[in-house]
Amino acid sequence: MSLVSQPLAGRTALVVGGSSGIGKGIGLELAARGADIIVSSRRSEAGEAAVAELVEASAGRTPSHRFARLDASSLRGVREFTQQLAAERESLDFLVMCQTKASFGGREETREGFEIKLVLHVYSRLLLAADLLPLLRRGERPGTPGGCVLSVLSGGVHSGLADWTDPDLAQTFSLKRAADAAGTYNDLGLQHLADQAGSEDLGFLHASPGFVDSKWGHETRAAFLIKAAQKLFATSIEECGRTMVEAMCDDRFARGFHCVDHHGKPAKTTKAQTPHNVAALQKHLAAVFETAL
Ligand SMILES: NC(=O)c1ccc[n+]([C@@H]2O[C@H](COP(=O)([O-])OP(=O)(O)OC[C@H]3O[C@@H](n4cnc5c(N)ncnc54)[C@H](OP(=O)(O)O)[C@@H]3O)[C@@H](O)[C@H]2O)c1
Repeated sequence: MSLVSQPLAGRTALVVGGSSGIGKGIGLELAARGADIIVSSRRSEAGEAAVAELVEASAGRTPSHRFARLDASSLRGVREFTQQLAAERESLDFLVMCQTKASFGGREETREGFEIKLVLHVYSRLLLAADLLPLLRRGERPGTPGGCVLSVLSGGVHSGLADWTDPDLAQTFSLKRAADAAGTYNDLGLQHLADQAGSEDLGFLHASPGFVDSKWGHETRAAFLIKAAQKLFATSIEECGRTMVEAMCDDRFARGFHCVDHHGKPAKTTKAQTPHNVAALQKHLAAVFETAL
């Protein structure tokens, strides 16, 4: 296979939540374009199975895909993971984050005492991105000397929620508020990282994937309904992976913070995207990380 058909040859991507669903779809597309993938998730068996699929998708070369276990519900675990990665590697070209927990119940706390959806969708993602910035700055995606961060959640589709009286939803949790807060905090947190001196050549993307035939919700009591709806209406993980990778390589998103829709097109942030809220989220994150780490 020629280098032209492998435009990401020599690049490495860390895909957290890469053992199934959208993360796996993105990994398959990155691998088909020549990148090496570090697949991360909790379940080693599923992660190793995903690595085997990535090897198949890398026909014509000897790839260096591997599985690295991470339970992103522990912020201390995330910090240990990033320290280990920084000790092993000089650079990283793509950081993709898809870790998630589907639930339709009430507020649920991690062992470290934080709301699980905020941990998986926000705190662990912004800690991973912040800790790995030095590696990403030495990374490379086509067209820039720096790397790319992609958080797959709800870019452009959530409502803005920036209530700094209860930022961790300890008193005011609802599924809608958890979804809106997580989406808003991704926008604000990635904007903050993009604004840092030294981030000029990095792209920070918050994408909404659309409705995708993943494993999302398969462990809930609504699994039967979700699976039926996925069969009828959802896009495949491969199709979603292609769209997301196109966005990661799109010149329009090469620098700064961007929301991206499920077609890979630019999407709008919310009215909550203000410098005041960017700074307020940083204050909240500092308190969370000080407690956890
Ligand atoms: N599917 C959709 O239609 C849809 C729509 C809108 C938004 N999204 C968003 O897209 C993202 C990806 O979702 P998906 O549909 O691909 O879900 P999925 O199929 O359930 O995949 C989730 C991935 O996250 C990993 N994971 C779960 N808990 C983890 C933890 N504590 N630490 C590390 N990894 C963990 C899972 O592997 P392990 O179980 O091995 O840990 C798996 O690889 C999510 O943020 C979701 O909210 C999806």
